[in-house]
Amino acid sequence: MILIKSARELDKMRESARITQCVLNEVINHIRVGSTTYELDRIAEQALAQYDALPAFKGYRGYPASVCVSVNEEVVHGIPGKRKLREGDIVSLDFGVLKDGYYGDMAVTVGVGKISPEREKLLRVTKESLLRGIEQAQPGKRLGDISHAIESYVVNNGFSIVRDYVGHGIGREMHEEPQIPNFGEPNTGPVLKEGMVFAIEPMVNVGTYKVKTLADGWTVVTRDKKASAHFEHTVAITENGPEVLTWQKTT
Ligand code: MF3
Ligand code: CO
Repeated sequence: MILIKSARELDKMRESARITQCVLNEVINHIRVGSTTYELDRIAEQALAQYDALPAFKGYRGYPASVCVSVNEEVVHGIPGKRKLREGDIVSLDFGVLKDGYYGDMAVTVGVGKISPEREKLLRVTKESLLRGIEQAQPGKRLGDISHAIESYVVNNGFSIVRDYVGHGIGREMHEEPQIPNFGEPNTGPVLKEGMVFAIEPMVNVGTYKVKTLADGWTVVTRDKKASAHFEHTVAITENGPEVLTWQKTT
Protein backbone atom coordinates (compact mmCIF):
# COMPACT_ATOMS: atom_id res chain seq x y z
CA MET A 1 0.00 0.00 0.00
CA ILE A 2 1.24 3.45 -0.90
CA LEU A 3 1.59 6.13 1.76
CA ILE A 4 2.21 9.42 -0.01
CA LYS A 5 5.16 11.06 1.68
CA SER A 6 5.78 14.25 -0.27
CA ALA A 7 4.00 16.96 -2.21
CA ARG A 8 5.93 15.79 -5.25
CA GLU A 9 4.60 12.28 -4.97
CA LEU A 10 1.04 13.53 -4.52
CA ASP A 11 1.50 15.67 -7.64
CA LYS A 12 2.48 12.58 -9.60
CA MET A 13 -0.65 10.75 -8.48
CA ARG A 14 -2.65 13.86 -9.42
CA GLU A 15 -1.15 13.88 -12.88
CA SER A 16 -1.93 10.20 -13.59
CA ALA A 17 -5.46 10.73 -12.36
CA ARG A 18 -5.88 13.92 -14.41
CA ILE A 19 -4.84 12.14 -17.60
CA THR A 20 -7.21 9.26 -16.79
CA GLN A 21 -10.07 11.72 -16.35
CA CYS A 22 -9.27 13.71 -19.52
CA VAL A 23 -9.15 10.60 -21.68
CA LEU A 24 -12.34 9.20 -20.20
CA ASN A 25 -14.11 12.54 -20.82
CA GLU A 26 -13.06 12.35 -24.45
CA VAL A 27 -14.54 8.86 -24.74
CA ILE A 28 -17.79 9.96 -23.10
CA ASN A 29 -18.08 12.85 -25.57
CA HIS A 30 -17.93 10.39 -28.46
CA ILE A 31 -20.74 8.12 -27.33
CA ARG A 32 -23.48 7.99 -29.97
CA VAL A 33 -26.27 5.66 -30.95
CA GLY A 34 -24.54 3.35 -33.42
CA SER A 35 -20.98 3.70 -32.04
CA THR A 36 -19.28 0.36 -31.63
CA THR A 37 -17.61 -0.39 -28.34
CA TYR A 38 -14.36 -0.89 -30.27
CA GLU A 39 -14.54 2.70 -31.57
CA LEU A 40 -14.61 3.90 -27.97
CA ASP A 41 -11.41 2.00 -27.25
CA ARG A 42 -9.78 3.63 -30.30
CA ILE A 43 -10.80 7.08 -29.11
CA ALA A 44 -9.21 6.44 -25.72
CA GLU A 45 -5.96 5.35 -27.33
CA GLN A 46 -5.92 8.36 -29.63
CA ALA A 47 -6.62 10.75 -26.75
CA LEU A 48 -3.95 9.09 -24.63
CA ALA A 49 -1.34 9.48 -27.37
CA GLN A 50 -0.75 13.16 -26.51
CA TYR A 51 0.45 12.20 -23.02
CA ASP A 52 3.58 10.28 -22.20
CA ALA A 53 1.54 7.58 -20.47
CA LEU A 54 0.49 3.97 -20.89
CA PRO A 55 -2.97 2.40 -20.72
CA ALA A 56 -3.01 0.49 -17.44
CA PHE A 57 -5.37 -2.30 -18.47
CA LYS A 58 -3.93 -3.33 -21.84
CA GLY A 59 -2.02 -6.57 -21.30
CA TYR A 60 -3.03 -6.74 -17.64
CA ARG A 61 -3.45 -10.50 -17.10
CA GLY A 62 -3.84 -10.66 -20.88
CA TYR A 63 -6.69 -8.13 -21.13
CA PRO A 64 -6.75 -7.14 -24.83
CA ALA A 65 -7.93 -3.48 -24.77
CA SER A 66 -7.35 -0.10 -23.13
CA VAL A 67 -10.89 0.53 -21.91
CA CYS A 68 -13.39 -1.85 -20.34
CA VAL A 69 -16.76 -1.20 -22.00
CA SER A 70 -19.66 -2.94 -20.26
CA VAL A 71 -23.20 -2.50 -21.64
CA ASN A 72 -26.49 -2.96 -19.72
CA GLU A 73 -26.32 -6.29 -17.85
CA GLU A 74 -22.54 -6.35 -18.23
CA VAL A 75 -21.06 -5.34 -14.88
CA VAL A 76 -17.33 -4.89 -15.56
CA HIS A 77 -14.50 -6.02 -17.85
CA GLY A 78 -16.51 -5.96 -21.10
CA ILE A 79 -14.13 -6.27 -24.05
CA PRO A 80 -14.59 -3.64 -26.77
CA GLY A 81 -15.80 -5.16 -30.03
CA LYS A 82 -18.38 -4.95 -32.80
CA ARG A 83 -21.38 -4.38 -30.56
CA LYS A 84 -23.23 -1.19 -31.52
CA LEU A 85 -24.69 1.06 -28.84
CA ARG A 86 -28.44 1.54 -29.02
CA GLU A 87 -30.79 4.17 -27.67
CA GLY A 88 -31.64 3.30 -24.05
CA ASP A 89 -28.44 1.36 -23.36
CA ILE A 90 -26.27 2.22 -20.39
CA VAL A 91 -22.55 1.88 -20.92
CA SER A 92 -19.92 1.55 -18.21
CA LEU A 93 -16.45 2.80 -19.17
CA ASP A 94 -13.51 1.87 -16.97
CA PHE A 95 -10.06 3.25 -17.76
CA GLY A 96 -6.69 3.57 -16.08
CA VAL A 97 -3.24 4.92 -16.91
CA LEU A 98 0.34 4.53 -15.78
CA LYS A 99 2.23 7.81 -15.89
CA ASP A 100 5.71 8.29 -14.51
CA GLY A 101 5.46 5.27 -12.19
CA TYR A 102 2.01 6.02 -10.78
CA TYR A 103 -1.47 4.73 -11.63
CA GLY A 104 -4.84 6.45 -12.05
CA ASP A 105 -8.16 4.55 -12.31
CA MET A 106 -11.68 5.79 -13.00
CA ALA A 107 -15.06 4.52 -14.19
CA VAL A 108 -18.37 6.08 -15.16
CA THR A 109 -21.67 4.80 -16.50
CA VAL A 110 -23.55 6.91 -19.03
CA GLY A 111 -26.84 6.56 -20.84
CA VAL A 112 -27.10 6.35 -24.62
CA GLY A 113 -29.83 8.77 -25.74
CA LYS A 114 -33.00 8.52 -23.66
CA ILE A 115 -32.91 5.81 -21.00
CA SER A 116 -35.65 4.37 -18.78
CA PRO A 117 -36.47 6.01 -15.42
CA GLU A 118 -35.23 2.88 -13.66
CA ARG A 119 -31.87 3.15 -15.37
CA GLU A 120 -31.73 6.89 -14.64
CA LYS A 121 -32.22 6.04 -10.99
CA LEU A 122 -29.57 3.32 -11.13
CA LEU A 123 -26.98 5.79 -12.45
CA ARG A 124 -27.95 8.45 -9.91
CA VAL A 125 -27.87 6.05 -6.95
CA THR A 126 -24.57 4.42 -7.95
CA LYS A 127 -22.85 7.79 -8.43
CA GLU A 128 -24.23 9.12 -5.15
CA SER A 129 -23.14 5.96 -3.31
CA LEU A 130 -19.59 6.59 -4.51
CA LEU A 131 -19.72 10.18 -3.24
CA ARG A 132 -20.99 8.96 0.13
CA GLY A 133 -18.13 6.47 0.31
CA ILE A 134 -15.60 9.14 -0.62
CA GLU A 135 -16.95 11.39 2.14
CA GLN A 136 -15.77 8.79 4.67
CA ALA A 137 -12.20 8.72 3.31
CA GLN A 138 -10.71 10.78 6.12
CA PRO A 139 -7.89 10.32 8.62
CA GLY A 140 -9.19 8.60 11.75
CA LYS A 141 -12.18 6.94 10.09
CA ARG A 142 -12.05 3.22 9.32
CA LEU A 143 -12.25 1.28 6.08
CA GLY A 144 -15.62 -0.20 7.03
CA ASP A 145 -17.04 3.33 7.20
CA ILE A 146 -16.47 3.72 3.46
CA SER A 147 -17.91 0.29 2.69
CA HIS A 148 -20.95 0.80 4.88
CA ALA A 149 -21.76 4.27 3.53
CA ILE A 150 -21.88 2.86 0.01
CA GLU A 151 -23.85 -0.26 0.86
CA SER A 152 -26.46 1.39 3.04
CA TYR A 153 -27.26 4.06 0.46
CA VAL A 154 -27.60 1.50 -2.34
CA VAL A 155 -29.71 -0.94 -0.34
CA ASN A 156 -31.97 1.82 0.98
CA ASN A 157 -32.66 2.73 -2.64
CA GLY A 158 -33.71 -0.82 -3.53
CA PHE A 159 -30.66 -1.90 -5.53
CA SER A 160 -27.95 -4.46 -4.77
CA ILE A 161 -24.17 -4.29 -4.40
CA VAL A 162 -21.88 -6.60 -6.34
CA ARG A 163 -19.76 -8.56 -3.87
CA ASP A 164 -17.35 -10.46 -6.12
CA TYR A 165 -15.47 -7.31 -7.23
CA VAL A 166 -14.23 -4.54 -4.96
CA GLY A 167 -12.18 -1.35 -4.88
CA HIS A 168 -8.49 -1.27 -4.03
CA GLY A 169 -5.49 0.70 -2.93
CA ILE A 170 -3.67 2.29 -5.87
CA GLY A 171 -0.28 3.93 -6.34
CA ARG A 172 2.81 2.34 -7.81
CA GLU A 173 0.65 -0.67 -8.67
CA MET A 174 -2.86 -0.54 -10.08
CA HIS A 175 -4.12 -2.91 -7.43
CA GLU A 176 -2.62 -2.49 -3.98
CA GLU A 177 -3.76 -3.42 -0.52
CA PRO A 178 -6.24 -2.97 1.00
CA GLN A 179 -9.28 -4.27 -0.84
CA ILE A 180 -12.18 -1.85 -0.52
CA PRO A 181 -15.46 -3.77 -0.41
CA ASN A 182 -18.61 -1.82 -1.22
CA PHE A 183 -20.37 -3.52 1.71
CA GLY A 184 -19.47 -3.85 5.37
CA GLU A 185 -19.88 -2.69 8.93
CA PRO A 186 -19.13 0.82 10.16
CA ASN A 187 -16.30 1.31 12.66
CA THR A 188 -14.49 -1.85 11.55
CA GLY A 189 -11.30 -2.53 9.61
CA PRO A 190 -8.05 -0.58 9.33
CA VAL A 191 -7.89 3.02 10.49
CA LEU A 192 -7.50 5.44 7.57
CA LYS A 193 -4.39 7.61 7.45
CA GLU A 194 -3.20 10.65 5.57
CA GLY A 195 -1.29 9.59 2.46
CA MET A 196 -3.37 6.52 1.61
CA VAL A 197 -4.79 6.44 -1.93
CA PHE A 198 -7.83 4.36 -2.83
CA ALA A 199 -9.75 3.47 -5.96
CA ILE A 200 -13.32 3.33 -4.67
CA GLU A 201 -15.66 1.70 -7.14
CA PRO A 202 -19.21 0.57 -6.37
CA MET A 203 -20.84 -1.78 -8.89
CA VAL A 204 -24.60 -1.66 -8.39
CA ASN A 205 -27.29 -3.95 -9.83
CA VAL A 206 -31.01 -3.36 -10.36
CA GLY A 207 -31.77 -7.00 -9.44
CA THR A 208 -29.67 -9.72 -7.87
CA TYR A 209 -26.13 -8.99 -6.69
CA LYS A 210 -25.04 -12.29 -8.24
CA VAL A 211 -22.78 -12.19 -11.27
CA LYS A 212 -21.00 -14.62 -13.57
CA THR A 213 -18.18 -14.43 -16.13
CA LEU A 214 -18.93 -15.14 -19.79
CA ALA A 215 -17.04 -17.68 -21.91
CA ASP A 216 -14.65 -14.95 -23.17
CA GLY A 217 -13.05 -15.20 -19.73
CA TRP A 218 -13.55 -11.48 -18.98
CA THR A 219 -17.03 -10.07 -19.35
CA VAL A 220 -18.85 -10.12 -16.01
CA VAL A 221 -22.66 -10.06 -16.27
CA THR A 222 -25.54 -10.08 -13.82
CA ARG A 223 -27.06 -13.53 -13.34
CA ASP A 224 -30.59 -12.19 -13.88
CA LYS A 225 -29.52 -10.09 -16.92
CA LYS A 226 -30.84 -6.91 -15.28
CA ALA A 227 -28.81 -3.73 -15.62
CA SER A 228 -25.69 -2.80 -13.68
CA ALA A 229 -23.77 0.46 -13.17
CA HIS A 230 -20.22 1.29 -12.07
CA PHE A 231 -18.60 4.52 -10.91
CA GLU A 232 -15.02 4.82 -9.71
CA HIS A 233 -12.69 7.56 -8.51
CA THR A 234 -9.07 7.58 -7.37
CA VAL A 235 -9.07 9.32 -3.99
CA ALA A 236 -6.20 10.49 -1.78
CA ILE A 237 -6.71 10.85 1.96
CA THR A 238 -5.28 14.20 3.04
CA GLU A 239 -5.21 15.91 6.42
CA ASN A 240 -8.17 17.96 5.18
CA GLY A 241 -10.16 14.90 4.10
CA PRO A 242 -10.65 13.21 0.73
CA GLU A 243 -9.10 14.66 -2.42
CA VAL A 244 -10.71 13.16 -5.50
CA LEU A 245 -7.76 12.94 -7.87
CA THR A 246 -9.84 11.92 -10.88
CA TRP A 247 -12.04 14.97 -10.43
CA GLN A 248 -9.95 17.99 -11.26
CA LYS A 249 -10.51 21.11 -13.23
CA THR A 250 -9.40 20.16 -16.72
CA THR A 251 -8.84 22.21 -19.80
N1 MF3 B 1 -11.13 -1.89 -13.88
C1 MF3 B 1 -10.50 -2.70 -12.96
C2 MF3 B 1 -10.31 -1.89 -11.72
O1 MF3 B 1 -10.88 -0.84 -11.64
C3 MF3 B 1 -9.27 -3.26 -13.56
C4 MF3 B 1 -9.53 -3.82 -14.90
S1 MF3 B 1 -8.24 -4.74 -15.38
C5 MF3 B 1 -8.69 -5.33 -16.86
O2 MF3 B 1 -9.67 -2.24 -10.78
F1 MF3 B 1 -7.72 -6.04 -17.25
F2 MF3 B 1 -9.80 -5.96 -16.77
F3 MF3 B 1 -8.89 -4.32 -17.67
CO1 CO C 1 -10.21 0.05 -10.06
